[in-house]
Amino acid sequence: MRLNQLLGTEFPLIQGGMANIATGKFAAAVSNAGALGLIGAGGMKADQLREEIRICKSLTDKPFGVNIMLMNPDADEMARIVIDEQIPVVTTGAGNPGKYVPAWKAAGIKVIPVVPAVVLAKRLVAAGVDAVIAEGTESGGHVGEMTTMALVPQVADAVDVPVIAAGGIADGRGLMAAFALGAVGAQLGTCLLASEECPIHENYKAAILKAADSDTTVTGRIAGVPVRILKNRMARQYLKQEKAGADKMELEKYTLGSLRRAVFDGDVDTGSLMAGQVAGMVHEIRPLRAIFEDMMSGAKDCLARLNEEGV
Ligand SMILES: Cc1cc2nc3c(=O)[nH]c(=O)nc-3n(C[C@H](O)[C@H](O)[C@H](O)COP(=O)(O)O)c2cc1C
Repeated sequence: MRLNQLLGTEFPLIQGGMANIATGKFAAAVSNAGALGLIGAGGMKADQLREEIRICKSLTDKPFGVNIMLMNPDADEMARIVIDEQIPVVTTGAGNPGKYVPAWKAAGIKVIPVVPAVVLAKRLVAAGVDAVIAEGTESGGHVGEMTTMALVPQVADAVDVPVIAAGGIADGRGLMAAFALGAVGAQLGTCLLASEECPIHENYKAAILKAADSDTTVTGRIAGVPVRILKNRMARQYLKQEKAGADKMELEKYTLGSLRRAVFDGDVDTGSLMAGQVAGMVHEIRPLRAIFEDMMSGAKDCLARLNEEGV
């Protein structure tokens, strides 16, 4: 079964939940363009999430979901809100959502956690989740250690639920590769930052367009909070301090509010410009619908070419 059949969407694509970026309006735009939009509840308070859900419902009659970051202090309340609001799909990041799974399943919610490794995928499948998003370290934002290429087939071999690939997918070749690795679809982040509808500051978008393949780095690997961002002054200072042995509290002064500075103020020097390694292949700002259609037609072209060339 392809992801679109599982979710009731036109395309087998999910927009990754992106804290401070994926508002109700953006999620609705994604769903209206044919993929599954997600409200990124990461940087929100519970009341804000309720409000964004209302906005999303008013702008689309297509399915959409909510991404809950489990380290959010309001996660328990958010877990109840998605039930009250009859959200069809919930994805989770940064941890193990096991304690919420029974109530979500009882409410008919499709539960799809993000996993960075096989061990967590197996544990969550045993807890009853419907699918897993295997996210490689190429991704923008919080990352694990494994690459998408190595992770997706190992998760697909280890579990008997659908696997969605995330990390490093920005065109039809990437989507076809995800299918080849055993995924039923893909979750996208970085390439959607360069959409017309994405509400980030234009400086942030310009930085994505300007980025080359090796222009991202990971801060916080030593501190235990690895986050992939574009290299800038903040990243350089953070990494220098991190290498020098600065503790978590000292490092936090660089990251506190830094995503918001990038997203809302367009501060590309001290802001945290979360982006994945595919930033180097994103060259223009396009409407969401064009991004999705090109990805689908590119995947078909890729398959035709592979069939022609053989193995
Ligand atoms: C700016 C940004 C913010 C993100 N925030 C979140 C988040 O709040 N929750 C989450 O589960 N994933 C988050 N992610 C990861 C995405 O949901 C997605 O899995 C990832 O971007 C896919 O890899 P790609 O960037 O190579 O497309 C974020 C990614 C980016 C680029």
